[in-house]
Formats: sequence, C-alpha cells, structure tokens
Amino acid sequence: MNRFKRILAFGLAVALTGTLAVGCSGGSGASSGSNDTAQDSGAAGGKLVMATNATFPPYEYVEGGEYEGIDVEIAGKLAEKLGRELEIQDVEFDSIIGGVQSGKYDMGMAGMTVTEERKQSVNFSDTYATGIQSIIVPEGSAIATVDDLSSDTRIGVQQGTTGDIYATDDYGEDAVTAYKNGADAVQALVTGKIDCVIIDNEPAKSFAAANDGLVILDTSYAEEDYAICISKDNEELLTQINDALSELKSDGTIDSIIEKYIPSEG
Ligand code: ARG
Repeated sequence: MNRFKRILAFGLAVALTGTLAVGCSGGSGASSGSNDTAQDSGAAGGKLVMATNATFPPYEYVEGGEYEGIDVEIAGKLAEKLGRELEIQDVEFDSIIGGVQSGKYDMGMAGMTVTEERKQSVNFSDTYATGIQSIIVPEGSAIATVDDLSSDTRIGVQQGTTGDIYATDDYGEDAVTAYKNGADAVQALVTGKIDCVIIDNEPAKSFAAANDGLVILDTSYAEEDYAICISKDNEELLTQINDALSELKSDGTIDSIIEKYIPSEG
C-alpha cells in the first residue's frame, strides 16, 4: 500500500524534469497555446481556463480541429452559468494537477478520478460521472479475467492515470509500461508489444471499436468517480462549480450530455 509515496515521488519527478504542459492532441490547431495564467482571469466575466488531456473519448477528444466530448460540453455549461468564457488547454494528463495547484489553470476536467492521494494536492468538486477501469486484450488472449494478470503480464497504461498507479502497485513497475496516451497503449497492444491495456471503460470501448481484434474483459479492475479538480486556494470557485453542477444535475442537463455520448442500452 505505497500508493501515497508513489504519487508524491511521481509528482516530484514531473516537477523536477519540467515535462509540463506539452500539448499532445492528435488534432491540429485545437490547442490554444496561450501562456496566460488563470489567476489573472478569475473575475466574473474573465476566462475559465480548463486543463484537459483530449485523448480520451468520449470525455474529451479532438475532432475536425474542435474539442468534443462529455467534459467539454459540461464545462461549456459550467462556464455559461459562471458568466465566464471557457478556454481549453490540452496538456499531458499528469501535468493537470500540478498546473491547477500552481494557478496556471482554474480547473482540471479530464475524466479525472477522485483519489485520496490527489485530494492531498487539490480539491475535487462533487462527482458528475462514474468510471470503471477495464482491461482490453486481443481476441483469443489467455487473459480471461483480472485474476489472470500477474507480475509477468506486460500491461500498458496511460502515464499518471489510476490505471497506471493501481497496476504498478499490484503487479510492480516492471510489469507496467506507461504510454503518453491511451491510443499509444492500444497501438502497442495491436502490434503485440504488450498483453493488455488497463484504461477507463468508455475510452476502452471507443478504442476497441476503432481497432479490429480487441475485446474488453467482463470483469472490471476498479470502479471510480470522476470530478473536477480545483486549487485548494480557490474555495470560491469550488462553491460556484458545485452550485452550477447541482443545477445542471437537477435540470437533467448532465444526464442528457452523458446520454448523447454514451447511449444507454435498452
Ligand atoms: N480516470 C483516470 C484517472 O483519473 C484516467 C483519466 C485520463 N483522462 C484523460 N483525459 N486522458 O487517472
């Protein structure tokens, strides 16, 4: 149970190597490239700067040079309620929390799982969605359930995600290869470099649909809540976001956005 230490060490390594805020979306022209800090725009009417990692369909991705997805649409509604203009910064997933902490971004919204460890660094809003860590394997794989994973399994993950953190804890660093994004991990799976990918269920479905010969195991690896992270120094924004979220939940807006991207069966 040394997830705490690992996160701290990881955060420190990121800070020291300075590998922050490198845009990595597949699309061109969508990253805003602005270097403005969020702090200057906190006033009503100013920009609401959201950090995300737009490689994560259906929550955030780039299509036709535009940001799309559940988080993108919910964030748009939140900004509207707050009377602020939404600005999206597409950055490495593992740089979001640090950038929110330092005030570079007002909030991080990236299908981000609430964890006790992350709560040491940032505040989380009320949760607006749930996620599951799933396992993708090639058709006919010897891995049939989560119990078939071991320290000998070559596991691919997106760097800094809960899939990365949990798999490293459970199977050891040598078993886990961390890729820049989920699509790269899936590509490695397709070409046989790894045996499985652990990633959130909805992106898993979308990657499996886009690549022949991949299946998602029925058994899930972990169940999680998604929320928006906000600096601990910005209690005011936390309250505003929670108030706006609760309105968007009770008037059905959030449900209809999620239903648009994840149609419920039946
Ligand atoms: N839910 C996972 C986590 O919080 C993965 C999120 C990855 N999000 C992204 N936009 N790439 O660690």
